[in-house]
Amino acid sequence: MTKAPNIVLGVTGSIAAYKALDLVGRLRKKGCRVTVIMTGNACKLVGPASFEALSGNPVARELFPDSKPQNIEHISLAQLADVLAIVPASANFIAKAAAGIADDLLTTVALAVRAPVLLAPAMNVNMWENRIVRQNVKRLADNGWRMVEPESGRLACGAEGNGRLASLDKIENEILCLLGWKDDYRDIPLIITAGRTEEPWDPVRFISNRSSGRMGMALAEQSARRGAKVTLISGPADVPAPEVFKHITVNTAAQMSQAVLKELPHNRALIMAAAVADYAPKNIASGKIKKNNDDDMTLTLKKNPDIIQLAAGRRKAGTVLVGFALETDNLIANARKKLAAKKLDLIVANPAKTLSSENIQAVIIDQKGNTAKFPPMPKSRLAGLILDRTIKLIGADK
Ligand SMILES: Cc1cc2nc3c(=O)[nH]c(=O)nc-3n(C[C@H](O)[C@H](O)[C@H](O)COP(=O)(O)O)c2cc1C
Repeated sequence: MTKAPNIVLGVTGSIAAYKALDLVGRLRKKGCRVTVIMTGNACKLVGPASFEALSGNPVARELFPDSKPQNIEHISLAQLADVLAIVPASANFIAKAAAGIADDLLTTVALAVRAPVLLAPAMNVNMWENRIVRQNVKRLADNGWRMVEPESGRLACGAEGNGRLASLDKIENEILCLLGWKDDYRDIPLIITAGRTEEPWDPVRFISNRSSGRMGMALAEQSARRGAKVTLISGPADVPAPEVFKHITVNTAAQMSQAVLKELPHNRALIMAAAVADYAPKNIASGKIKKNNDDDMTLTLKKNPDIIQLAAGRRKAGTVLVGFALETDNLIANARKKLAAKKLDLIVANPAKTLSSENIQAVIIDQKGNTAKFPPMPKSRLAGLILDRTIKLIGADK
């Protein structure tokens, strides 16, 4: 799984400081780690304890903290940040940052950071329209800081005008863009299956396969980050499941089939990345089967339900189906056959050697016969490419 990005969130002494609490929760929901730095004046408006509770991290406040002599706080925070977001940014902070002043923890981190910086100013309309503030804002924007301009409306001081903190939707979106994340799946419900199935033949034994679950988990993680309401239906896997809208765990193909068909009507797409056993033992012994004197032992198998084929037959018009084909021979020809036979919209073909690996060498084929061959790459990266194509198919009647 990809590492969770670190957002360092600077909160300054603006009346809108309390809104940053909500932003912490939103970013964590998207899978980010959040570390909050508060200025002394921000602490007079909102208690650091609330930020600590919501972020799950101590709030950094001091340039010279009493403890932690082993590291230099402002340098480690600057290095930690994948994005530094100042929300809300006071006129005072903006002025100091524009002048290169570094007289507290936040302004010092802002000078030392190499990651992208986002600024969401909030202040009284006269302050916002003051030429000195405009010049300072321009100076920071010219230096590459991303500006989320305040909005017009009723301000805390009672005045009407520009200066109200931009909407959290907008700020969150800009932060995610700086991380290279998209928001194209916002609120789209989709099912992703992941992991392998285990088909028991007595209470202690089962038939399974070598799938690690990495591909399905990466798809679930990334589509959730892109805003999807993910129902993850997973069998056993070697990697942990990401936080998603709904998580259903199963063991057997029959259980997975039941769960998928139940959830299908409420979803816009089904991505079947799970390695489902084609066959299961016909009979499951109620007690452990004992070793006897015979050299051979026969296990009779029966065919499991073909989940994606069943889904293709029952889906509502417009539900997108994405399948995977794991092949040892004739990869592309076999994948094309599967795509047509099961009426899939997209198929991801990959050779068996990538089964439990971190990397995958895949070919993506669509219904029109377009074939995209990719070099070996991390499964997390391929997940992004699959999602880029799936959203286009969903998009037609979004
Ligand atoms: C109740 C209250 C609300 C304030 N709201 C704002 C504000 O929205 N925007 C702003 O730029 N300054 C605001 N200020 C003024 C700042 O707190 C002040 O300029 C302070 O020096 C900012 O410090 P900091 O940038 O280090 O956090 C407010 C002050 C008070 C007392």
